[in-house]
Amino acid sequence: MSRSSEELLVEASKVFPGGVNSPVRALVKPYPFYVASAEGPFVYTVEGRRLLDLVMAYGPLILGHRDKRVLDAIREQLEKGWLYGAPYEAEIELAKAILRHYKPGGMVRFVNSGTEATMTAIRLARGATGRKYIVKFDGCYHGAHDYVLVAAGSAMGEYGLPSSEGVLSDSARYTLVAEFNDEPGIERLVARMGGEIAAIIVEPVIGNSGVIPARPSFLRTLRQLADEWGFLLIFDEVITGFRLGLGGAQEYYGVEADIVVLGKIVGGGFPIGVVVGSRDLMENLAPLGRVFNAGTFNAHPVSMVAGLATIRILESTDALEIASRAMKLVTDILGESVVESGLPHAINRVESMAQIFFVDGVVDSASKARRSDKRIYTRLHEELLRRGVFIAPSQMEALFTSSSHTRSHLGILEEALPEAVREVVKDARFKGQGSN
Ligand SMILES: Cc1ncc(COP(=O)(O)O)c(C=O)c1O
Repeated sequence: MSRSSEELLVEASKVFPGGVNSPVRALVKPYPFYVASAEGPFVYTVEGRRLLDLVMAYGPLILGHRDKRVLDAIREQLEKGWLYGAPYEAEIELAKAILRHYKPGGMVRFVNSGTEATMTAIRLARGATGRKYIVKFDGCYHGAHDYVLVAAGSAMGEYGLPSSEGVLSDSARYTLVAEFNDEPGIERLVARMGGEIAAIIVEPVIGNSGVIPARPSFLRTLRQLADEWGFLLIFDEVITGFRLGLGGAQEYYGVEADIVVLGKIVGGGFPIGVVVGSRDLMENLAPLGRVFNAGTFNAHPVSMVAGLATIRILESTDALEIASRAMKLVTDILGESVVESGLPHAINRVESMAQIFFVDGVVDSASKARRSDKRIYTRLHEELLRRGVFIAPSQMEALFTSSSHTRSHLGILEEALPEAVREVVKDARFKGQGSN
């Protein structure tokens, strides 16, 4: 055997802050496992352990790891070269496939990550409207750039405070934070600031405070306010796009956004971000318009062909239904074991994304999600990992299934869970606990 995860982490900690390149990876208990390979619903660690993966790289792998059909498309592309710095036919095909479902007659701009895509969408909204302010919701995550790294949980309508050192309060002050699913709250804020708002950006189903679906009337209210006040509605569908259905949250809720931001699944497991909007709006982008965006790796050929292969499979098979049914089974299994344990809990699921909260009552906002007992969740993560099941290490992430998760694979969870829950409950620290 090569070096163990523990040994690799020691070495990694010398060259990466915290030993990792994205913070959530450091939260895996008792320490991050190093991956040797992955296939279908499984990852294999360098120690040779097989783990049932319910994280799926935080969302992109809707077909599971190393899908053969996607692999063929990638291989074929690699034979032709992998980066040109010049236009390439596959980018047109992927754009057309996306537009069919998200904005017929519209246009797209391909960038390299969800972060870049929301940054570009916000710049575009400001450029097109000539207004400064954007509104985001407590608990929604839109990537790691300055416009949107603003404290969650601020009182309604308060000016944003940066939630990361290094973000200037000057850049955050034009980001207003409102409460998710709170219609009177957003109506009050817009009544006060509406004429200066360039855009409202929202995750239609929050996937970054656990999973929290929007109430349909909330999204309809956002649409109405945008129409009334002349600002743009941005749906951040980096997670929900091609997951809630081919048409994502727009189709699921029957509410149309002015700009849809995509990522994750549309790159077939390779880096991507997509800004989707009407032709009029998108023509504000350089080189036609004066809103700048550019990138050496924009529309990377491997991301294009992997994304296209993925979308074609989603269009021609029942992969999305299979993934959703798998998550229904996961939440049924979770529910059963946890009910028996007597721990207060709530489970939110939308199609193939879900999360469990250890809290009393319904979780319909980030502030309620934060009341969940994270110690219990973290212990459950640890006990499941010990038994060969990988769930997100943070309560604030989502669990994901793919079309590769079959009923028999999920038997592994069914077997592991009762004992894992018993261990968690046995833990003296939680004796007699309520919700926190
Ligand atoms: C809803 C949402 N928007 C944006 C992003 C940022 O995407 P990326 O990590 O590709 O930069 C994420 C990442 O998890 C996300 O979940």
